[in-house]
Amino acid sequence: MIYLDNAATTSPKPKSVLRACDYALKELCANPGRSGHALSVKAADAVYKCRVKAAEFFGLDNSEKVVFTKNCTEALNTVIKGLALENCEVITSCFEHNSVARPLFSLKKRGVKTRIAKVYFGDRQKTVDSFRSLITDKTRLIICTHASNVCGTILPIREIGELCRERGIPFAVDGAQSAGMVSIDMKRDGIDFLCLPGHKGLYGPMGTGLLLCSGSLPDTLTEGGTGNLSNSLFQPDDLPERLESGTVNVPGIAGLSAGIDFVKKAGISRINRHEKQLCAILYKGLSDNKSITVYGENPTVTSTAPVVSFNINGIPSEQVSAELSSRGIAVRAGLHCAPFAHEALGTLKTGTVRVSFSVFNTPDEVKYLIKSIENIQKNV
Ligand code: ALA
Repeated sequence: MIYLDNAATTSPKPKSVLRACDYALKELCANPGRSGHALSVKAADAVYKCRVKAAEFFGLDNSEKVVFTKNCTEALNTVIKGLALENCEVITSCFEHNSVARPLFSLKKRGVKTRIAKVYFGDRQKTVDSFRSLITDKTRLIICTHASNVCGTILPIREIGELCRERGIPFAVDGAQSAGMVSIDMKRDGIDFLCLPGHKGLYGPMGTGLLLCSGSLPDTLTEGGTGNLSNSLFQPDDLPERLESGTVNVPGIAGLSAGIDFVKKAGISRINRHEKQLCAILYKGLSDNKSITVYGENPTVTSTAPVVSFNINGIPSEQVSAELSSRGIAVRAGLHCAPFAHEALGTLKTGTVRVSFSVFNTPDEVKYLIKSIENIQKNV
């Protein structure tokens, strides 16, 4: 199979990740931070090392503020609900995934109004101005995706972060489609809460996610055993325990740790260059074809993540995806859990066919995809 659905989860995983998970299940099979025996301490050490790596990689000065979650969605919900927002306003973008949109809209019952900033292709300043124009004295949070999971457009988070600092507003970023492919530095970019999947551009296993906090959250979503302060009936105040109840996913975290090493060794800029080259081959093939519409910005520009969304005019996106699947190619069609983004692109009714690359894809695979698309056009 030619796997081109890496925005959903990267596949395959690097061999080092497989080895790390296998090792953890065999050699680190004890509960970290709970018991004082050697195996528990060894497991805790592996978990700690991953925290340190993640903090360093994303420019957070304290590894204790790295929280393991089960995915990016859980990290986003922890921030959105943990800020205990009431009778106030939140600003987000028109490119959000449901993992931001749904928790935000769930706060409507607490009087939280969500205001939606426009994103302007190729004009960072206009996008920032759009966020700025929505700020009122009731704004308590700005939260946005770093890169659209539908068309790859990258939002100017550094400038939005600067705006948030100027106005004293907490800033949260959904790095689901950028982490490991585009540089993120919490200090440089003015990010208070960074929410990440472990299993996409960081090449870890599914079921892993990260929440990096430089700000503090008053509320918890989950309470329970943390391995410390056991005689208190209340959740500890300090991170990471405050936000990590119950046993953490040691094999997943070990795999994620190896994934971060893999990305560091390959280098974000090399990974990005490789995947953008694949975008360029695909874009050329698609834009030469008069019966195909490509959405969003030209995917070869630097302001996009390596994702290309298109439609074959007159053929439903799901049908194209099914036809591609029957030719051994995996892509994702439909609305990609991001109706806002499709509304902004004018594809809410049709959805799109989305192709997303990883470091393991090759130019030959993209050429086969282009041929297969032509073949579908002839035969459907
Ligand atoms: N959010 C993931 C995607 O875009 C699952 O496919």
